Amino acid sequence: MCGIIGYLGYREAYPILINGLKKLEYRGYDSSGIAIFYEKGYSLCKTKGRVYDLEKKICLNKIKISGTTGIGHTRWATHGIPNDLNAHPHVSNSNNLIIIHNGIVENYYAIKIVLSKNGFTFKSKTDTEVLVNLIEFVKKENQLSLEEAVRISLNEIVGAYSIAVVDKSHPETIVIAKLGSPLALGINDKEFFIASDPISFIDYTKNALYLKDGEMAILKKGRELDLRKIGDNHKLNPIIEKLKINLKQIEKGKYKYFMLKEIYEQPKTILDTLRGRLLISTKGNEIICINGIESNKDVFINAKCITIVACGTSWHASLIGEYLLEELARIPVEVEYASEFRYRNPILDRRNVIIVISQSGETADTLAALKLAKKKGAFVFGICNVVGSSIARNVDAGVYTHAGPEIGVASTKSFTAQITVLILLALKIGKYRSVINELRYKNLCQELISIPEKVDFVLKTDNSIKKISKEYYNVNNFLYLGRGINFPVALEGALKLKEVSYIHAEGYPAAEMKHGPIALIDSNMPVIIIATKKGFYDKIVGNVQEIKARKGKIISIVNEGDVQVSMLSDHIIKIPIISEELSPLITVIPLQLLAYQIAYIRGENVDQPRNLAKSVTVE
Ligand code: M6R
Repeated sequence: MCGIIGYLGYREAYPILINGLKKLEYRGYDSSGIAIFYEKGYSLCKTKGRVYDLEKKICLNKIKISGTTGIGHTRWATHGIPNDLNAHPHVSNSNNLIIIHNGIVENYYAIKIVLSKNGFTFKSKTDTEVLVNLIEFVKKENQLSLEEAVRISLNEIVGAYSIAVVDKSHPETIVIAKLGSPLALGINDKEFFIASDPISFIDYTKNALYLKDGEMAILKKGRELDLRKIGDNHKLNPIIEKLKINLKQIEKGKYKYFMLKEIYEQPKTILDTLRGRLLISTKGNEIICINGIESNKDVFINAKCITIVACGTSWHASLIGEYLLEELARIPVEVEYASEFRYRNPILDRRNVIIVISQSGETADTLAALKLAKKKGAFVFGICNVVGSSIARNVDAGVYTHAGPEIGVASTKSFTAQITVLILLALKIGKYRSVINELRYKNLCQELISIPEKVDFVLKTDNSIKKISKEYYNVNNFLYLGRGINFPVALEGALKLKEVSYIHAEGYPAAEMKHGPIALIDSNMPVIIIATKKGFYDKIVGNVQEIKARKGKIISIVNEGDVQVSMLSDHIIKIPIISEELSPLITVIPLQLLAYQIAYIRGENVDQPRNLAKSVTVE
């Protein structure tokens, strides 16, 4: 997690760094800091709190902010609590070297002991301060240039990093390096922009170089960049790409929060995910085109089973994928938490297909699970949103969700985009394996086309959801129930509420309720129940009766025209009728809106919930 930024060029660095840091705050926002270099020194300011607090501190303390080289950081704490001392940038003992770091130095403690024995002292509790002092130690001991000292030190490091280091006596040079954490370099004539995510420099340049793991670059003012391998110092040819990010996608527009904007974007993002992949010919033939599947047709036909690996919301999408792939493609599917999978000793070979799902494409556990699966000989297929991300680059084949940048920490549009891809995948593989009936295939494809319109319809329930939210925003607990393919939607609804409102919520399969959670139900317990017609309606009516008998408050998601569940409910949210396989795309929308509205009424910072970060690049 954490966001790093840097600038080296001819303009004032401060506004570039501050604006860039604001765009990186989704990566972590418990403290922030900046260092600006001028000819004979530098100014440093860091603080607990957000970039806004940093700006205030700089202004109050009248800190000198003029200079054309600078680095900045927004933090999600790993080593050491969020406070001014632990905030980045970190400075070496001699006060000469200044570093920003995203990642974890796992062997920092052993290095710290060696450095302490050599007279080094530490002000913070961070692994990063150890790293900058290691670089200083290596540099002094061996009389090396900054780049060589960085390179040799990094070869001693176990862990993950994207870093930028400056020697205050040579502010015309920045050394950057990457292993495991993302790092992009924006390039213009005579200027460089360094960032964890190119959205922070897209205002200035669309030419970008994504550093690969094990690469470092030496950037010098007004000169070509020098790209090298950290391992053996081998010189590399930089491959510059044109970024395709549209600025509107990273602005809130008329919305107060990105989360709400992203919820409302879903009719469009689902369409974008389908675009070019679901083709209906003039003769009414439905064709699904997914290159990553087509070029590996035999792998999917012959797969003995599929394991889907992910974390958080992407894990919930995976559970929906399990249902879809088993139902439509008739392949046995397992779903695993990446953090568990990576530390087991899974039995895998070439006939195992592993699907990794990740919005950011940078989640450390998912990336490690991917690498393990590849090492064991499995075929790894990725579903990612962020183009060019580490997971996307490491899989054997894959597909992008095309949901556009998701800035709100709570995932919304990426979830429905992942489900859309999984539906396409299940249909395509089902067709390859000749296990799906032609009519069912055709009907589902046709229905998929109508989804964006139906999502639009459900978004109109926002006003009634606001009213429900006003009634329940102060409760301590919520229970979410669903069955079949809508059980993972219940889990996702509960996760959304927890993340943004800090209300405790649990998702359960509706029928499991009587095996324990029913004990919680009384007149203070709101229960959200997904009770759509197609699926297990009659069984769900039974579950609703059980809640009613115990005086629970029932908020149900029902289809238009519903009578039975509606009569038993305290509140109903009506959604259009849709096939069960596609229903999560619709049923999740009211749950996202409810989580948002409750958090909003409670006055929470919806886009940046406490303790969270958008991409979890530490394990
Ligand atoms: O980027 P990823 O999809 O790999 O992220 C996985 C989880 O960290 C993520 O879904 C997290 O649970 C979100 N905060 C959910 O809203």
